[in-house]
Amino acid sequence: MTPLSCMSSCQCVSRGYLDGISNLARPAFPIAPSPSWKKEQIYWISELRLTDFRNHSDLSLSLSSRPVVLVGKNGAGKTNLLEAISLLLPGRGLRGAAMSELKCETGRGSWTVWAKIEGPEGTQSVGTGQISGMDHSRREARVNGCASVPLHKLARLCRMVWLTPSMDGLFMGAAMERRQFLDRLVLALNPEHKQYVMAFDKSMRQRNNLLEQGRYDPAWLGVIEAQMAEYGTAIAAARCETIALLQDILSARHSKTPFPVAYLQLDGCLESDLAGRPAIDVEDRYRLRLKENRPTDARAKRTLEGPHRSDLAVYHANKKHLARLCSTGEQKILLISLVLSHARLIAIQKRGAAPLVLFDEVAAHLDIVHRTTLFEELHEIGVQAWMTGIEKESFTSFDAQIYRLTEGRLENLE
Ligand SMILES: Nc1ncnc2c1ncn2[C@@H]1O[C@H](COP(=O)(O)OP(=O)(O)OP(=O)(O)O)[C@@H](O)[C@H]1O
Ligand SMILES: [Mg+2]
Repeated sequence: MTPLSCMSSCQCVSRGYLDGISNLARPAFPIAPSPSWKKEQIYWISELRLTDFRNHSDLSLSLSSRPVVLVGKNGAGKTNLLEAISLLLPGRGLRGAAMSELKCETGRGSWTVWAKIEGPEGTQSVGTGQISGMDHSRREARVNGCASVPLHKLARLCRMVWLTPSMDGLFMGAAMERRQFLDRLVLALNPEHKQYVMAFDKSMRQRNNLLEQGRYDPAWLGVIEAQMAEYGTAIAAARCETIALLQDILSARHSKTPFPVAYLQLDGCLESDLAGRPAIDVEDRYRLRLKENRPTDARAKRTLEGPHRSDLAVYHANKKHLARLCSTGEQKILLISLVLSHARLIAIQKRGAAPLVLFDEVAAHLDIVHRTTLFEELHEIGVQAWMTGIEKESFTSFDAQIYRLTEGRLENLE
């Protein structure tokens, strides 16, 4: 089977849970944003304030929609600032850090990140943080003055993707990291995705606990397995749909850019099943397999089959081999190519808007051809890209708002 064949035939038509993703428009080519591209068709941050967040005790920024470059010495707090922005989405941010790590060690025991996010729905005031005395494993969200907004709702207010140096080994490392990367790409297209992933994980934990105890009501276990089958199929279908759309964009960019084409393949039991069956059958078959697998899963003390075991295989199209066999630089360029194509994909969707793109230490590692092309593509797509580096010279040809960070203070270098 070619890497593409399983995705293109994926049938994602099922129960109501797929409404969001299956209504996505397939891209109409050419895939550059239209000349009528307006600021409202991108997500961008117009104001940002960090209080006692890591090494930033009090930092404020007012911005236009243009890209933003942060330069500064090692340890200045550039990645911390990007991490703060990444917490405007649900989840643990771009470092995957424990919430207890985020408060400034010399601060008042609480931290906040607040931003004014501009987007197609207008201006949203979004804040998140922990107040002292709060359970340190949690954070709260406040949206347009409403307190205690469920975190998953943040996914509706902003779209965002990021690349950090710790993702350099993405193609070499554990499948879980690629799955998380993939799920972030899906989330940017389908804000419900995070909820399904969390709901699936919760049901799976309940099932694993019951199987481990060895005594359970089979009917109750059946209910939990039915939930897992529903959420699991929704997760797999959303992944298939995103990958198929993304592959269209990647393939269409072939020959228009020095960035290589990636071929994407989803390896997972549900994802493969979706290639040949309606989602509703896939869901039923998975529910039955969970029931059959109770004894083996009980012995293994975990659920052996499901979307939590899927992997994303990425191939370098020209070299015709897996990305993990490519050089370090080639792997980085492939990842950038994926993120750029994904940004284009979101931008061209109906009611879509280009996402925020956070690129930590990306420019310095690119040769001049790829760096210049990256800057051109970011401008063409129109995203507010946030980029970091040590020296501003790495961004000479980039039309951006450039700031230097020194000991928690920002200096505008424009
Ligand atoms: N909770 C915290 N409270 C105070 N300072 C912190 C906290 N967590 C991390 N730091 C400090 O933040 C600094 C690291 O910041 P960051 O990683 O953002 O730097 P950077 O500018 O990205 O550096 P580099 O160029 O090396 O990547 C370190 O000096 C670290 O000690
Ligand atoms: Mg850094």
